[in-house]
Amino acid sequence: MSDRFPPGFLWGAATSAYQIEGAVAEGGRTPSIWDTFSHTPGRTDGGDTGDVAVDHYHRMREDVALMADMGLTAYRFSVSWSRVQPTGRGPAVQLGLDFYRRLVDELLDHGIQPALTLYHWDLPQELEDAGGWPARDTAHRFAEYAALVGGALGDRVEHWITLNEPWCSAFLGYASGVHAPGRTEPAASLRAAHHLNLAHGEATSALRAVLPARDQVAVSLNSAVIRPLSPDPADLAAVRRIDDLANGIFHGPMLHGAYPASLFADTAPVTDWSFVHDGDLRAIQQPLDALGLNYYTTSLVSAADPGQADARADGHGASAHSPWPGATSVAFHQPPGERTAMGWTIDPSGLYDLLLRYTKEAPGLPLLVTENGAACEDGPAPDGSVHDPDRIGYLHDHLATVRRAMEAGADVRGYYLWSLMDNFEWSFGYGKRFGAVYVDYATLARTPKSSARWYAELARTGELPA
Ligand code: NOJ
Repeated sequence: MSDRFPPGFLWGAATSAYQIEGAVAEGGRTPSIWDTFSHTPGRTDGGDTGDVAVDHYHRMREDVALMADMGLTAYRFSVSWSRVQPTGRGPAVQLGLDFYRRLVDELLDHGIQPALTLYHWDLPQELEDAGGWPARDTAHRFAEYAALVGGALGDRVEHWITLNEPWCSAFLGYASGVHAPGRTEPAASLRAAHHLNLAHGEATSALRAVLPARDQVAVSLNSAVIRPLSPDPADLAAVRRIDDLANGIFHGPMLHGAYPASLFADTAPVTDWSFVHDGDLRAIQQPLDALGLNYYTTSLVSAADPGQADARADGHGASAHSPWPGATSVAFHQPPGERTAMGWTIDPSGLYDLLLRYTKEAPGLPLLVTENGAACEDGPAPDGSVHDPDRIGYLHDHLATVRRAMEAGADVRGYYLWSLMDNFEWSFGYGKRFGAVYVDYATLARTPKSSARWYAELARTGELPA
């Protein structure tokens, strides 16, 4: 087996707007649900907000230079919806589009392919006030916004991603409430999931109408790899229930034009799904050019007595409310093995299983690893350098797994390390560092960690060191 990746394999890194940009009130940008949420006491660790984040809005050129030093051939970023279309409706704000146009031009000047995510969780607050994702109109608004951005940047951006991890938007946002907007309404969270699917489908059609034919449209799912605690049929049934709510609820309609029938049965006590209108499934199932998969860890589940389910062991933050509506008889367990600073078990074999699963689930559809990485306890040595051998080990083992999956038939076209630099890790604030570049939050100075140099060498040679 060769640890050499094919020529043209994309060596990327990823970020998202709210996690890095700052400048939340500049250029006509209005608040998104994450501004409101992070400013609500008790919602984020230490009351951290993205007001300044890592000030990428003002340091964009310096950051692109860091990407070039890292040998990146691709960079995945997201557009802040409320920077481009502050109320979530109507014409685009030129200043907002200009920022992304400058970023894209700077990337292209450095030979880095831009991959643009349209939605990475920062819904304009005005749209949340009008009902948010549980409201059907939000899907139509998203398609309109996609057309605005597509029309403005389609000539220079070839890689488009509609949604990032819609599971988090629907279930952490509207069921467990650990993400913005912090609502804990199980029925509304299932409506949100459907409207996110509809948003993806309508936006994909809207993009096709404005993008040049060579441009590619994908979606990034946080497709969970769920393992049973035992081979007991009750534990296997628990896996199936969580798999429906984590995976099938999104890839079912997007790839196959149908929700899993078992999902309707499980969630019947929560909702009757009457918000699915005739024609919706046809609108959602749009041909895609690639499927993006974000992978960090595996989940371990078993059957539990109703009411005993422990939603807190699922790795998605503490809440008295479950992010799994309808799965009242499932318990989550900590998978054995070493963990990252997030408490997430390190298990590269899950990435192998995931890539081969979607090779079968979507035959012929190219795959992209649109996120993978680890939070570590990084800090500068006395000489100012930052060494992160644990992250290098994590990246090495996961990339070796990607290569193995490719040998076994997975058509993986690229890999985006999460993340280019340390940033705002949502409800965990700035305490969790995922970056290949260290950020000193007092000065905002950037220092490439040893993983950045390691990755640069990999991108240059295309070969994983032993
Ligand atoms: C998934 C999300 O897309 C990203 O925003 C987040 O920071 C990473 N995972 C790490 O939790």
